Amino acid sequence: MDLNLVNKVALITGASKGIGREVATRLASEGCDVVITARNPEALEKTAAEIAAATGSKVVAQAGDMSRSADVDRCVEAALEEFGRIDVLVTCAGSSPGGLLEELTDEQWMESLNLKFMGYVRTVRSVVPHMVKQGSGAIVLVVGNDGLKPSYWEMTAGAANAADLNFASSIADQYGPKGIRVNTVNPGPVDTERWDGLEKAFARDMGVDQAEARRRAEASIPLGRITQPQEVAALVSFLASDVAASVHGAHIPIDGAQRKSLMER
Ligand SMILES: NC(=O)c1ccc[n+]([C@@H]2O[C@H](COP(=O)([O-])OP(=O)(O)OC[C@H]3O[C@@H](n4cnc5c(N)ncnc54)[C@H](OP(=O)(O)O)[C@@H]3O)[C@@H](O)[C@H]2O)c1
Repeated sequence: MDLNLVNKVALITGASKGIGREVATRLASEGCDVVITARNPEALEKTAAEIAAATGSKVVAQAGDMSRSADVDRCVEAALEEFGRIDVLVTCAGSSPGGLLEELTDEQWMESLNLKFMGYVRTVRSVVPHMVKQGSGAIVLVVGNDGLKPSYWEMTAGAANAADLNFASSIADQYGPKGIRVNTVNPGPVDTERWDGLEKAFARDMGVDQAEARRRAEASIPLGRITQPQEVAALVSFLASDVAASVHGAHIPIDGAQRKSLMER
């Protein structure tokens, strides 16, 4: 399927590894010029060089912490200076600690909300005025299926994700008439470094080994397997493209129909 993304400009946050990296790779291979962000500049530069070499597209690394407004604005300005426009925004910079209510500290709750929710708010707020001027744009927030299903070991993610879904619906309402499409993609477990860390923490809290934690995760998914980041990237790229011109304000799961919490009673 031709996604018609050649010469579009995409900004992807949280893209030195994991889902963001695969989204950047996929969009670059579809012909987008790409700007990627993450905190660690060395890892980010390395990823940018690898994606550029693999795809032949222009890939710009802009290191920044998406939990800080000044960094977000600086990265957006750098993208505009480099390419003059941003057609596609994909937010992936998020991480939320797992744990039980009695263990989670105020700091952990705030850390989750400040990045996974407010980081997405800040990025959209910074990019949207430019998309409004252009009269077009596609925004895809990579959120997570915990925004809709209860999961008492993943509450900090769940709360931030639920806030993201409401935020995305609201801005879809506001900016749709200005030519900006907004959708969310909601993975269950995806095979990334972040998932590996969650599996380890889950195993520790359940008193099992990591292989058993993985078995339980797979057992919670009717398709019986963890999603690959490339699969998420394919969905994001479709939503970012004009092929999805009528898909707007949608919250799309990509989780093998996982409806159960990871924790078993
Ligand atoms: N993997 C899953 O199972 C899963 C499931 C549902 C939803 N999600 C969501 O999908 C998104 C991506 O997850 P992932 O598994 O791909 O994570 P990952 O493998 O840990 O990668 C996270 C990326 O974000 C960057 N990042 C982290 N904190 C940042 C910050 N404060 N500012 C800027 N960049 C930051 C990281 O680089 P630096 O560390 O250098 O900053 C890295 O490039 C997250 O929002 C996550 O909540 C993941």
